[in-house]
Amino acid sequence: MGNSFDKIAMVGAGNVAWHLAPVLEAAGCAVTQVYSRSEEKAKELVIRLYQAEVQTQLDFSNSLAELFILAVSDDAIAEVARQIQLPAEATIVHTSGGQPLNALAKAPTKRIGVFYPLQTFSKLRPVDFRDIPICLESDDSKVLHRLTKLARGISRQVKLINSEERAQLHVAAVLANNFTNHLLRMAEQLLHDHQLDFTLLHPLIEETVAKALEIGPAQSQTGPARRYDEKTINHHLKYLRTYDPAYAKVYKALTKHIQFIAGNT
Ligand SMILES: NC(=O)c1ccc[n+]([C@@H]2O[C@H](COP(=O)([O-])OP(=O)(O)OC[C@H]3O[C@@H](n4cnc5c(N)ncnc54)[C@H](OP(=O)(O)O)[C@@H]3O)[C@@H](O)[C@H]2O)c1
Repeated sequence: MGNSFDKIAMVGAGNVAWHLAPVLEAAGCAVTQVYSRSEEKAKELVIRLYQAEVQTQLDFSNSLAELFILAVSDDAIAEVARQIQLPAEATIVHTSGGQPLNALAKAPTKRIGVFYPLQTFSKLRPVDFRDIPICLESDDSKVLHRLTKLARGISRQVKLINSEERAQLHVAAVLANNFTNHLLRMAEQLLHDHQLDFTLLHPLIEETVAKALEIGPAQSQTGPARRYDEKTINHHLKYLRTYDPAYAKVYKALTKHIQFIAGNT
């Protein structure tokens, strides 16, 4: 990839690195090293790659990589950036939606950026990177140019998003993904406790998402809260207080908010 980053080191061997490293290789980059504090975890990723080496220390001063992708937990980014030793002219990026660009302020290079893939990643689940928005940021125009080239090599959706916008995007992503998934987990648990199969809900879950994407979530809202069906709501709450009072609290809070939003639109 001319004028992009040909040699890349992956710092971190978790969910994001697991998917991103092979995709970068498939796009023509060489992943030179995979760093993890655990040799075992780095090895697990290295065997998915062509020629990467395992590294368990943050001394990359002899690395041939031009780009260092910090795919470590949010609360470790600043510390790893402070500790890492880089070759001359290196660029370093993090992959977080929840951390600003200046989380890398203490890195030993001025060439810093963000390479945030807006998707949920788990090692067990394959993803198609071509449809994943890659949100980029850098205050160095050359770095931004090279990151854009790199990102376009793996995705059709490349966006320039600053730290403030990314923070808002991240809140929205938590609502849309993490909270929705938690509600699904609550539903699964409730069914399981009554010897009912979660697969019964699969068509409903699929239609919920498909409809929200097609006609928008505001138009899609149905159910007792939206209908102000107090009789059903009270019936559900009575049952949930005996099943699990924490479920009743979540149900009540969401019901109130659905009605608040419906009353104000
Ligand atoms: N997962 C997602 O859905 C997703 C989506 C978009 C962006 N992101 C962002 O991508 C980044 C990585 O997320 P992830 O899901 O891949 O995390 P993860 O699966 O939990 O893996 C975290 C990695 O960080 C390393 N690490 C943690 N603390 C460290 C420290 N103090 N020093 C050195 N290494 C440390 C871990 O190293 P060890 O192997 O040594 O324990 C592990 O390799 C985060 O910034 C996250 O916000 C995640």
